[in-house]
Amino acid sequence: MVKRVVLAYSGGLDTSVAVRWLLENKQAAEVVCVAVDVGQSDISDPDVLRDRALAAGALDCVVVDARHEMANEFCSSAIVANARYEGKYPLVSALSRPVIVRHLVDQARRFDADAVGHGCTGKGNDQVRFEVGTHALAPDLKVLAPARNWGMTRADSVDYAHKWNIPITATKEKIYSIDENLWGRAIECGEIEDPWNEPPSEPYTLTRQTTSDTAETVISFENGLPVAVDGVTMPLFDIIGAMNVIAGARGAGRLDMVENRRVGIKSREVYECPGALSIITAHSALEDLCLERDLAREKQRLEIRWAELVYDGMWFSPLKEALDAFMNETQRAVSGDVRIRFDAPGLMTVVGRRSDLALYDHGLATYDAADTFQHADSEGFVKIYGLGVKTWAARQGAQHSTPPRP
Ligand code: ARG
Repeated sequence: MVKRVVLAYSGGLDTSVAVRWLLENKQAAEVVCVAVDVGQSDISDPDVLRDRALAAGALDCVVVDARHEMANEFCSSAIVANARYEGKYPLVSALSRPVIVRHLVDQARRFDADAVGHGCTGKGNDQVRFEVGTHALAPDLKVLAPARNWGMTRADSVDYAHKWNIPITATKEKIYSIDENLWGRAIECGEIEDPWNEPPSEPYTLTRQTTSDTAETVISFENGLPVAVDGVTMPLFDIIGAMNVIAGARGAGRLDMVENRRVGIKSREVYECPGALSIITAHSALEDLCLERDLAREKQRLEIRWAELVYDGMWFSPLKEALDAFMNETQRAVSGDVRIRFDAPGLMTVVGRRSDLALYDHGLATYDAADTFQHADSEGFVKIYGLGVKTWAARQGAQHSTPPRP
């Protein structure tokens, strides 16, 4: 039994039941709850959270405001890395877990705890992110994962809460499992579990179409990060919030995918990330204009790796940190504006981009009279460029002559 555990607390059914379960099952002598605000719209009033945690048996309950930290350290790195796991998912839950871990560890030190805890099951990625993250920041702390071992169904947990007078709002029928933060919403369970079923519209909140108007928005970037929307300078947290509204109101930013979890399970998930996807789309369009070719190509390869590492719980790892250094280095020239248009339902299109540091040179690119390109130089270049292939083809002789098509 540990003497004191700091539990990642959402105020929901599982983490509320976990408090009592840890005490009753002699896993911990004392439980301190920590709720971290990462921009989820459904975070309960701090007083309600506290009352619920204390009713469940917690020694204390702390609510931490990590909204700007989430934006400025976590979403920002994801923007710079154009992070989309398996080419699609912008890492909503994967980005918030390391923020939560950081605060769990801080609070564990403050409360002189010897363990941290989480309410994840054994089938998901979040347990990996919590535990690997904790071991990276605090190798001495133990990690407790009550929901992985307790063997209770949702109905059992509701009964358990009633038995111990824990004031929960959850009922035995819950259809979807939803995780939410500033960067978007992840939706699992219910009929979505059959990959043949079309996702129901019911669980969407950010991307409910509320207007059929087209919106054209200019996102301005400095050194790879958005600094203004339509000329209005705002903190990154507000920019993401504004783009959630502008894109979301036109139904843009939904994803439906079957993804590979770290634990080897394929799962069907739907996401709504209007802010994340519109900002990454705009950022990547600006990079097209500003990044030198070889740098852009190498960056794209490393972006895939970056997203995999973060998805797989390796936020606090030497490779991920080294890749961040690379990503940041590439952003020195990524400043300028991107025009992006949203047409209901669900279309988002980059329609323009400009930058003082653009490598796009009109004189080199144009086919009209302003052309400055030295056409004659291409002749020698192409000959030398193709020389190896030409030599190879000549050695093949007759055998190499184009075979007849079947
Ligand atoms: N599959 C996504 C991920 O691993 C979303 C997980 C959502 N978590 C949750 N507890 N519902 O990042």
